[in-house]
Amino acid sequence: MKAVRVPKERAEDVRRFAEKIGVKDKSRLITTKEDFVEIPIVDGSEHFFEGYEIVEQKEPVFASKKNLKQVLKGNVPDEVIPSSYKVIGNIIMVKLTENARRYARQIGKALLDLNPRCKAVWCDYGREGMLRKPKVELIAGEGSETVHRENGCKFKLDVARVMFSLGNQAERMRVAGLVEEGEVVVDMFAGIGYFTIPIAVHSKAERIYAVEINPDSYKYLLENIKLNDVRNVIPILGDSMFVTPERVANRVVMGHIYCQDFLPAAIKALDGRGIIHYHESTPEAVIDRPIRRVERACSKAGKKCKILNFRKVKNYSPGVYHVVVDAEVY
Ligand SMILES: C[S@@+](CC[C@H](N)C(=O)[O-])C[C@H]1O[C@@H](n2cnc3c(N)ncnc32)[C@H](O)[C@@H]1O
Repeated sequence: MKAVRVPKERAEDVRRFAEKIGVKDKSRLITTKEDFVEIPIVDGSEHFFEGYEIVEQKEPVFASKKNLKQVLKGNVPDEVIPSSYKVIGNIIMVKLTENARRYARQIGKALLDLNPRCKAVWCDYGREGMLRKPKVELIAGEGSETVHRENGCKFKLDVARVMFSLGNQAERMRVAGLVEEGEVVVDMFAGIGYFTIPIAVHSKAERIYAVEINPDSYKYLLENIKLNDVRNVIPILGDSMFVTPERVANRVVMGHIYCQDFLPAAIKALDGRGIIHYHESTPEAVIDRPIRRVERACSKAGKKCKILNFRKVKNYSPGVYHVVVDAEVY
């Protein structure tokens, strides 16, 4: 749980900035330690605060009056109580250790008591396979469908059927902010519209082709296009290896962490030249592997490329990062 640590006199400016770009973590309170203030921010937004110190908060102060430890005191051992949880729409997602699972019902109920506007708590065991299907289990309340609001966009989804990564929030907004008026964008792994919807809402793109293979996600992509009242999205149900439109795009988003085999299709989607945002999960020991893969794919396709940006989206697992490469291909 990250926070920007700033001298008191700069705190108000930084707080306003974090709120304006939608990365202030509202679930935690701003805290003061001596002459410094810690402003909680969402994971993955650290790069917005270059020049400031980013700290990992060991004892975050949550916005609700009581925290989970206080509510569960005496009923659940302290050491198995999760230190954090996520709220997607009105559904709570929590990771439980092996030892915590026998207390799942108590933990779930306590989380609902702490968050009265939420209707259900789901235990999050990760994601499976190329479709990134969530492995989850209901531990309190009921319901799995919700509408999550983020940076002026609405995302309807079923947490038991499709994933939603709060940690990618800053990256979704960053890419939407790069799209220039009149651009044609191809989103090769559109899901429920993770990138497509922010681009459609916040940019003046001419058209966004959104390709998604999983019918469950595709159904929500169609709903989210309506819900956000965007008119320039062309949804395509199918495997982006085969159905990605060719020679149409100024920009291609490859928002899947295992998509290196799809680089040739992304290059073909560009209208001669353009920008590719290539995601990968990569161990620290081979941190430049994604750059090498992009360069190799371009050279195989008889193209050149210039690396415009390389950044960490979030920690994926210990020693492994979710990163993104922005490459201009020509
Ligand atoms: C992990 S999600 C993208 C998450 C997103 N980057 C975010 O901001 O949260 C990847 C999506 O790609 C879809 N997908 C996987 N393989 C695909 C393929 N071959 N063609 C099209 N979509 C695919 C999955 O079904 C899933 O909806």
